[in-house]
Amino acid sequence: MQFTDLKAQYAALKPEIDARIQRVLDHGQYIMGPEVKELEAALAAFTGSRHCITVASGTEALLIALMALDLQPGDEVITTPFTFAATAETIVLAGAKPVFVDVEPDTANIDVSLIEARITPRTRALMPVSLYGQVADMAEINAIAAKHGLAVIEDAAQSFGAIYQGRRSCALSTFGATSFFPSKPLGCYGDGGALFTDDDTLAQAAREIRVHGQSARYTHTRLGVGGRMDTLQCAVVLAKLPRFEWELQRRVELGARYQRLLADMPGVGLIATRPDRSSVFAQFTVVVENRAAVQAALQAAGVPTAVHYPTPLNQQLAYSAHCCADCTPVAATLSARVLSLPMSADLSAADQDRVAEALRAVV
Ligand SMILES: Cc1ncc(COP(=O)(O)O)c(C=O)c1O
Repeated sequence: MQFTDLKAQYAALKPEIDARIQRVLDHGQYIMGPEVKELEAALAAFTGSRHCITVASGTEALLIALMALDLQPGDEVITTPFTFAATAETIVLAGAKPVFVDVEPDTANIDVSLIEARITPRTRALMPVSLYGQVADMAEINAIAAKHGLAVIEDAAQSFGAIYQGRRSCALSTFGATSFFPSKPLGCYGDGGALFTDDDTLAQAAREIRVHGQSARYTHTRLGVGGRMDTLQCAVVLAKLPRFEWELQRRVELGARYQRLLADMPGVGLIATRPDRSSVFAQFTVVVENRAAVQAALQAAGVPTAVHYPTPLNQQLAYSAHCCADCTPVAATLSARVLSLPMSADLSAADQDRVAEALRAVV
């Protein structure tokens, strides 16, 4: 059993993916070729966003969004510590200071009730993470942002395709930033990502920042980065789009099936999913005591697992200057107990049963 089954996905899509890649090899426009615009149009339509800007990775998407907001040294961006490093890393790289707010114990997403107390005159943006594939409380977050005149960047690296109150993740705030890392719900075959916004001025800024701040060739109007997504990677994502709705449905069904299988299992806690939104289960994560022993026993039973994430970012040396290590107790508790189980659209029900049985035997 694989933790994420990318081979089955390729086998199912081989003719489309091979043909798409061959087309790029034939036309030879490896940078900003026609597939880039084609993918951007398709993803803008899919999410319901006015603009999609493909970029080199999810990390680059976050960085470019933050750079487009023109942050000044000393500006603050409120986020969660219970996330992948890129969330806070890009805030620092953009010249701002991450302010870590604790998460909800049941969803592991940012606890909205704690945000306002952390807003200062230097706060410029809120950066919630839609963790494990479930959108954060974007309506409440947008309301706080509107009240205080802040931008909102949804770190949607794990939630592409998820629905929140009838709308798609990525199209819910000032910017949505996603990742096409191979194991993400919509993955390419290398690094890739995209930014989404309805704001014409911010979209233009992001497009310029993506190509070294150029507003025209060799006219560097602003500071930028080398942040384009390869034509070949765009071609891979395009080839995957016709199957994506089916994959999303499978993820939702498999997530619900895992929840049923594990619901009453003593010693296993579940991440809650709210009724007004779907999770696309980028990860299916449970909460267990004695995680190391459980993980080792599952490994011995042939069930691969992973930990997302073992240390809250405010406890990492690189970010320790920005927050006290023990000021986000819920994130600390979760990080010691979370365990992600095998998950992908191609996971079979039989394998899922094996995971549940193996877990029952060890918890
Ligand atoms: C929450 C979150 N933010 C940002 C990223 C960065 O995405 P990428 O790996 O494409 O740079 C990831 C990817 O793992 C992520 O999970």
